[in-house]
Amino acid sequence: MLMNLKRIISLTATAFMLFTTCGLRAEGAAAKPLVVGFAQTGAESAWRTANTNSMKAEAEKRGIKLKFADGQGKQENQIRALRSFVTQGVDAIVVAPIVETGWDPVLREAKRAGIPVVVMDRNIQTDDKSLFACYIGSDFYKEGSLAAEWLVKNAGARTRIVELQGTPGSAAANVRRKAFADAIAKSPAFKLIDSQSGDFRRSGGKEVMEAFIKKHGKEIEIVYAHNDDMALGAVQAIEEAGLKPGKDIIIVSIDAIKEGVQAVVDGKINVVVECNPLFGPKVYDTIAKLKAGEPVERTSYNVDEVFDSTNAAARIGERQY
Ligand code: AHR
Repeated sequence: MLMNLKRIISLTATAFMLFTTCGLRAEGAAAKPLVVGFAQTGAESAWRTANTNSMKAEAEKRGIKLKFADGQGKQENQIRALRSFVTQGVDAIVVAPIVETGWDPVLREAKRAGIPVVVMDRNIQTDDKSLFACYIGSDFYKEGSLAAEWLVKNAGARTRIVELQGTPGSAAANVRRKAFADAIAKSPAFKLIDSQSGDFRRSGGKEVMEAFIKKHGKEIEIVYAHNDDMALGAVQAIEEAGLKPGKDIIIVSIDAIKEGVQAVVDGKINVVVECNPLFGPKVYDTIAKLKAGEPVERTSYNVDEVFDSTNAAARIGERQY
C-alpha cells in the first residue's frame, strides 16, 4: 500500500516535471526565424545593387534568415542555387531569373518539396503556372511603350534609332524590345537602324555605342537603352566621339536610378522611365501570406513614373536608389 502510494507520488512528480519543462520550452523558445533562399541574377547594374540591398535590408529588419546566391550572370548558377535551397529545406525561395526559359525542372523539384517560389523582377515562360506561387515585378511592356510614346511626342524631326538591348533572353530585354517596336510601328517615320545587346552593363553600353558610332556615324539620331547603366555608357561613348549626348543625339532609357535622373537634370539623357527595384517589403509580405495559407495576387507590378526635363530637377531629391 505504502509502496503504491510512493510510486503514485513519484510518477505524478515526474509527469509534473515533464509538463512544466515542456511548457517552459514551448513558451521560452524563440520562434524559429523564417529561412528564405534568394537567387539573384548578379550585379550587372546599379538597379540590381539597389534590388539586392532592398532584399537584404528588409530581411534583416524582419528577422528573416536570408540565404543569398549571386548568379553572376549565369542561369546554371541560379539553378544550382535553387537546388541547394531545396536540399537545405528553406521555407521559401525567391528567384530573379536571368532568362525567361528553362526553369521547369528545378521548379518542379521545389514544388515536390513543398517550397513556395516567388518569381521576382523578371518573369519566366512556362506552361505550368503551378510551378511558382506568384510573380512580383515591373510592367516591362508599359516601360517600353512609355519610352516610345515620349519619343513620338518629343523627337521632332529626328527618327533614326539605335537600340541597346539588355541581357539576351531576359524578360526585361525581350518585353522592352517588343513594346518599343510595337509602339514605334504606329509612327512609320521612325526607323530602327541597329540593335545590339550591352548586357545591361555600363561597359557593354559604351562598347556597343562606340561600334554603332563607327558603323553609322551621324546617321544616329536617337538611342533607346533598355537600362540607365547602358545609357550612361552610351553618354560616355558619344562624348568621346566629340558629340553632345541629349542634344546631338536624343537618349531615352529605363530604370531611373539616381545617376540616370541626374543625367536628365544635366541634359545628357532626355528621358528615363522608372523601374522600381525596391521589392523587399512586398516580397516578404507575400511570403508571410503564403506561409499563412492566405491568397496572394498572381501577378503584381510596382507603379512606375517618367522623368524628363519637366520634372527631373524637382524630383531628384526623392530618389531612393
Ligand atoms: O530586370 C530589370 C533590369 O535588370 C533592370 O532594368 C536592369 O538595370 C537590371 O539589370
